[in-house]
Amino acid sequence: MPHRNVSFYQNIKMSTFLDIAHQSGFDTCPDMELIFERIKDTRSLAELGGGYGRCVQYLLQSGYKGTIYCIERAASMVKYMQESITAPTDRVEIFHQDICDLRLPERVDAILWLWSGILEQSKAEQHLYVARIKTFLNKSGSLFIDTPHSELKVFGTKLDDHIIRVETDWGSLEAYLPSQDEIINISKGCGFSACEVIPYTTPTGLRRVMYELKV
Ligand SMILES: C[S@@+](CC[C@H](N)C(=O)[O-])C[C@H]1O[C@@H](n2cnc3c(N)ncnc32)[C@H](O)[C@@H]1O
Repeated sequence: MPHRNVSFYQNIKMSTFLDIAHQSGFDTCPDMELIFERIKDTRSLAELGGGYGRCVQYLLQSGYKGTIYCIERAASMVKYMQESITAPTDRVEIFHQDICDLRLPERVDAILWLWSGILEQSKAEQHLYVARIKTFLNKSGSLFIDTPHSELKVFGTKLDDHIIRVETDWGSLEAYLPSQDEIINISKGCGFSACEVIPYTTPTGLRRVMYELKV
């Protein structure tokens, strides 16, 4: 079901999206601070599901010198990023693209799939997409995946241990929260050599887990 959840992001008001980022504590980029040392010297990287451009802006403001490829499937988010990210195109390239059909101009040293991006794909898609994503990583590259720890505070209702549903006036969103074991199994199944588990907490008290899957 590749077009699941698209209208949620296509129709969300940017002020609402920014408010959710603020309530979650992502607006101050604790996830990017956590991994920046690991990615700062990479020659190029890709972000999957760029949203309003939070991570790209963080990289530019932190002096990242490599090339950034940013993939996003909601046309409204692509437009917002194209208007607000003023870096030259040899520094940042924004692609209107679905991860299910990921294409990048070159292999990269790091791929970022942050702020629960993986959750918006079904359980089966999560494994399939990680396998495809790995083909775009260089030999010493890493895929960073961020998920909630287990509880949800700001957004969504858990129907069971894995299924999260969000119903709003502008659209619905269904998400699959993988357990730590599931991410480790995906990592092994896709042939990554290691999967580091890095727990952290956002400034608003959300417990999260960052995974680094190493080629
Ligand atoms: C929660 S936002 C995260 C945005 C950004 N990564 C961040 O951390 O600030 C998830 C974004 O991923 C995009 N997205 C979800 N599934 C996608 C897919 N299959 N292909 C491309 N973009 C996708 C959504 O449209 C949305 O903009």
